[in-house]
Amino acid sequence: MKQKPSNPFILTGYYSPEYFCDRNEEYAKLSEAIKNERNVTLFSLRRLGKTALIQHLFYFLEKDNNYITLYADILSTDSLQSLTQKVATAVVRKFGSIEKRGLSQKIQDFIRNIGAGIEFDPVSGNPSIKFTYADYHQSKLSLHTILEFLSNQKQTVVIALDEFQQITKYQDENPEAFIRSLVQEFPGIRFIFSGSHRNIMISLFTGHGQPFYRSTQIFELLPIHPDEYSRFIKYHFKKANKTIKQEAINQIFDWTNLQTYYVQLVCNRLYSSNENITMELVQDTFLKILEEEQAVFSNYRNLLTSVQWRVLVALSKDAPVSEPTSGAFLRKHNISSTSTMSTAIKALQEKELIIKIKGQYIIHDTLLMRWIQQSF
Ligand SMILES: Nc1ncnc2c1ncn2[C@@H]1O[C@H](COP(=O)(O)OP(=O)(O)O)[C@@H](O)[C@H]1O
Ligand SMILES: [Mg+2]
Repeated sequence: MKQKPSNPFILTGYYSPEYFCDRNEEYAKLSEAIKNERNVTLFSLRRLGKTALIQHLFYFLEKDNNYITLYADILSTDSLQSLTQKVATAVVRKFGSIEKRGLSQKIQDFIRNIGAGIEFDPVSGNPSIKFTYADYHQSKLSLHTILEFLSNQKQTVVIALDEFQQITKYQDENPEAFIRSLVQEFPGIRFIFSGSHRNIMISLFTGHGQPFYRSTQIFELLPIHPDEYSRFIKYHFKKANKTIKQEAINQIFDWTNLQTYYVQLVCNRLYSSNENITMELVQDTFLKILEEEQAVFSNYRNLLTSVQWRVLVALSKDAPVSEPTSGAFLRKHNISSTSTMSTAIKALQEKELIIKIKGQYIIHDTLLMRWIQQSF
């Protein structure tokens, strides 16, 4: 048994249903899709809870002896080879932990068949898979062999490829088409494609002529409903004989725009403070959090051109903005022309700093927006 967390507002990953707020409907729909042999695509803004929801789903699927779940975050990958390495590592860790007695002959054969070697982390003892070749063709063969191995298991394998938009950055020739062909070749394996880059995810899975066009059921994850989140927050405070007023909770939701990670972060701080939760303490906590993020946020400025930075500040101050190229907005923020604005907006969108949803531009990271609002 894992030890109980000392603070119920978890900041990394997933612990157990007790510390996971709501998402009942989303869970039911995802679970229903997987159990009815449909692959799914999950997308949302960053830090809203995609990865945690996948872990929540996996928590229950694992209890059902008919499923084996595999999770691979491919954000740090830059080629099909490194993706294959991630997936192979997930397979070896999972089967190693199921079998408990070190690596069985089955897994050793598996590693040999995919042409890989194994390394053990000197501290954790966790195995990692490394390929000795660096060749696209060979990576394709290895990934194929991995999926063949998975499709031969008694149980259904469910594999989540998180931050899937990353594959569009590979130099390899059309990795999307290759992965799509594998998905078709192994219909017994369930795939969850998850990603934060809204535009890329939408275009990959709904764009005409795209390899994944209409091949999955698509879910857009929205913020947790404020009533459910309030109930969850109050429940955990009450359990520790602490109280938090609805007024304070509303302020947190407002300030964080209900971006899950930040709600958790503020609640985690408030929970650990031994003071009464006054409105001043809430405001104070906001400021402290911004102070801590200062180093990261101020660095954004160095990564942008001066026009891009000015546009980011303008959008932060007036967010949400529906017509950034209007004369009034340009004049107000002293941007010289429509084309300057359009170019800057395009660059900020590519960098995922801003995003257009339902005709309005918003700042992807709510805390960055709050920091800009109060600093400039
Ligand atoms: N339903 C939830 N209840 C409580 N905490 C959550 C919930 N969903 C996500 N979190 C927490 O919020 C943070 C961000 O979630 P994460 O799943 O990493 O977001 P994403 O994958 O969308 O970027 C994590 O620290 C996670 O523990
Ligand atoms: Mg994630």
